[in-house]
Amino acid sequence: MMTILNWKYKTKYHYYLVDSIPSTNTFLKDNFNEYPDNTILIALKQTAGRGRYDRVWRSDNDIMFSILLKTNGNYEIITPLAICMALDSFGINAGIKWPNDIYLNDKKLAGILIEDVFQLKFEASIIGIGINMTDKESVDGIGLNKDIDRYDLIDSIMKKFDKLNKLNHDELINLYRKRNIVYNKKVYYKDKIYTAKDIDIDGHLILNNEDGNIIVSSDEINIKESLI
Ligand code: BTN
Repeated sequence: MMTILNWKYKTKYHYYLVDSIPSTNTFLKDNFNEYPDNTILIALKQTAGRGRYDRVWRSDNDIMFSILLKTNGNYEIITPLAICMALDSFGINAGIKWPNDIYLNDKKLAGILIEDVFQLKFEASIIGIGINMTDKESVDGIGLNKDIDRYDLIDSIMKKFDKLNKLNHDELINLYRKRNIVYNKKVYYKDKIYTAKDIDIDGHLILNNEDGNIIVSSDEINIKESLI
């Protein structure tokens, strides 16, 4: 049953809470026409949570929500930054692992799944965010392990998100590059080993080996499987 949350903070977002749902991303993708721009759907439980590359996203009592936006934006860059900056204010210093995983102590703390809906033209972006509250040993994930109110954290993420959404592309990329922890990691790409060197102005990853540099986009490489 979906409840409209009487959100305690002043905000432009329309908050909904659901006890259990297959996936907040799938729901907003299927029902984007019924809900206004700036809808946020929070779930206490997902029975078919999805990650990137068609992976399953398993979580229990973690933070799971999706944001429905009907204007296009630089969300692949803004979202991980907003999460890291919000976590700063709770005393947690996380980093971004290119393209948009959130890491703490070399373990994954949060994941982001952004899906766009096109029907002849751009209709909506759905930004799904999952943040572990507790460690996930089976997938080597780490949790916040701190008594943080999920609604305080979501509110803080959205406040940072709104601020970042006003910056231009170059400003965003600079913040994103600074916050990344991918540098010097070893990466397998097309059967060769590279070192991640830098992120270019378009957000692509620059890889280096003895043959020189190559530039890859996040569609071309699945870094989770690629790190040695
Ligand atoms: C990843 O790291 O692969 C992305 C994980 C995204 C999980 C969130 S939880 C809320 C939203 N609903 C989903 O089904 N997935 C995203």
